[in-house]
Amino acid sequence: MAKALIVYAHPAHQRSRANRALLNRISDLHNVTVHDLYETYPDFFIDVEAEQKLLLEHDVIVIQHPVYWYNMPALLREWQDLVLEYGYAYGRKQQRLAGKQMWVVLTAGAPEHTYSETGVNERPLSDYFHHYPRMANVCHLDMKPTFEVYHGRHSPDEDIDKAAEQYRSCLLKYLKEFPTDA
Ligand SMILES: Cc1cc2nc3c(=O)[nH]c(=O)nc-3n(C[C@H](O)[C@H](O)[C@H](O)COP(=O)(O)O)c2cc1C
Repeated sequence: MAKALIVYAHPAHQRSRANRALLNRISDLHNVTVHDLYETYPDFFIDVEAEQKLLLEHDVIVIQHPVYWYNMPALLREWQDLVLEYGYAYGRKQQRLAGKQMWVVLTAGAPEHTYSETGVNERPLSDYFHHYPRMANVCHLDMKPTFEVYHGRHSPDEDIDKAAEQYRSCLLKYLKEFPTDA
């Protein structure tokens, strides 16, 4: 079976509700590696070689994080700059990640209706993350539809449970769909 790597960036995982629920729901899956960037690199010094090797060992790359200031947390941005470098992730003949799947998982604090033209956040959440499809394109990754959890800290428990169930189903589906030789 294919293998998934969850590149997880949460500056305060100890206080997490939404991401914790998602990750708990897939903790029994042996072919899924949860890679917590803030736990691994509290000093922000990223081991680029180790990160690149880890990516090569997996088929489905999940980028998962809470939305911080309409963006990704800082360590993930650093990871992106350093790990997805020219000659490894992109370049004329060096697209080492080509053909892998990419799945972005976002949790937002605000309710979904606020991310609309008439809402306080003025536009859909996806508009703030238009760089992810570009990243997939440049690295020749097959990007799956982004998974979004809204109102992460205050929605009813049953909504979080439902989101976690959907998250697990999607991940299993992408793993199953991934073409392997076996
Ligand atoms: C520094 C900071 C910035 C944040 N910026 C946003 C934001 O721009 N939009 C939003 O919807 N939520 C924002 N939030 C709320 C978090 O996204 C939300 O609490 C988190 O996704 C919930 O997931 P968790 O329970 O796993 O922490 C922010 C929170 C913090 C601490």
